[in-house]
Amino acid sequence: MKTLVILSHPNHKNSRVTQALVQAPSEVESVTVRNIDKLYGTDFTAIDVEAEKVAHEAADRIVYMFPIHWFNLTPMLKAYMNAVWQYSWAFGEGGYALAGKEMQVIAGAAEETYTHGSLIQYTTAEILAPIEASSYYTSMTYNHPIVFTNSNAVSDEGLKEWQQIVKAHLESPLGSNVKGVSLRKKLE
Ligand SMILES: Cc1cc2nc3c(=O)[nH]c(=O)nc-3n(C[C@H](O)[C@H](O)[C@H](O)COP(=O)(O)O)c2cc1C
Repeated sequence: MKTLVILSHPNHKNSRVTQALVQAPSEVESVTVRNIDKLYGTDFTAIDVEAEKVAHEAADRIVYMFPIHWFNLTPMLKAYMNAVWQYSWAFGEGGYALAGKEMQVIAGAAEETYTHGSLIQYTTAEILAPIEASSYYTSMTYNHPIVFTNSNAVSDEGLKEWQQIVKAHLESPLGSNVKGVSLRKKLE
């Protein structure tokens, strides 16, 4: 099984959590990490769309790893999806390049109160709905997202535990963490 990790952090040098989480893949076989903010900076016109497509096509499981910023993806990751997930490749006529692949989100979030009736009023799974819907739209299987909350307060020990959780997920066989599957073929 091949895994592609797309890492995005607008300020990777000052990152503690995301930088630690991305160490876990180096201990797992057949995992490729692409740090898109490092590769392309903030210039989304510089994204090498063909290279990114090839990287996605080679993977069985695709992991998008990022800190939650304003209850959303990082700006570069959103721009990256806009550029790479193209018509006739990811969706639309003949667009089945991502079909059957697993999408796994791994994110950090500083807040803790991701519950109904709390300040945020949404769960972490709910705030990630756009990427879940995008996965189904492009014929992918969507895994339960892994969101590490209270991320700014985590101890070094806690961070090591989170790394082990990431490692275990990366090592898990395909199909172990499925939240939902695409209905695309059925609906066409
Ligand atoms: C611009 C910005 C927006 C943020 N928005 C959120 C947010 O909406 N929800 C949340 O829980 N944390 C938010 N945070 C906190 C980050 O998610 C947290 O600092 C990050 O997960 C820690 O990982 P890092 O050490 O890799 O940066 C935000 C941080 C920044 C800088």
